[in-house]
Amino acid sequence: MNLPKIPLGVDVMDRDHYALEQMFARTPHVADDDLPAHLDAILAEIAAHFLREEAAMEAEGVPILHCHRGQHAALLEEAERLRKEFGRVDAAARRHAIGFRLARLVSDHVASVDAISSRFFFDKADVSVDPVGCCG
Ligand SMILES: [Fe+2]
Repeated sequence: MNLPKIPLGVDVMDRDHYALEQMFARTPHVADDDLPAHLDAILAEIAAHFLREEAAMEAEGVPILHCHRGQHAALLEEAERLRKEFGRVDAAARRHAIGFRLARLVSDHVASVDAISSRFFFDKADVSVDPVGCCG
């Protein structure tokens, strides 16, 4: 299996994160007119990935799942705002929105919330405090 930039050792995370990275990496090569469809494909993949990831965490009994779901919802809301801006900006700004802003939202999520959650798949870490502040 190809590994993403930040491998976490959880198959559904690593496989999906790698696939998303590949989609983001194609952004500079997508024709201007195809950028909206490219963004829609990435947003659909993010949403599908979040459902798979949440199902895996639920099956594993990850205790901070409710926090993680909240972070997923917040990221999807931000992505939706970005999608709404799309109609008002040119191709360069669209490319930046996908290849930098959205990619950064996802990579920051992987490096923080996903990294913490992945620990529960291995050592059932007792995170009695909220180390990433995801619960508010
Ligand atoms: Fe996540």
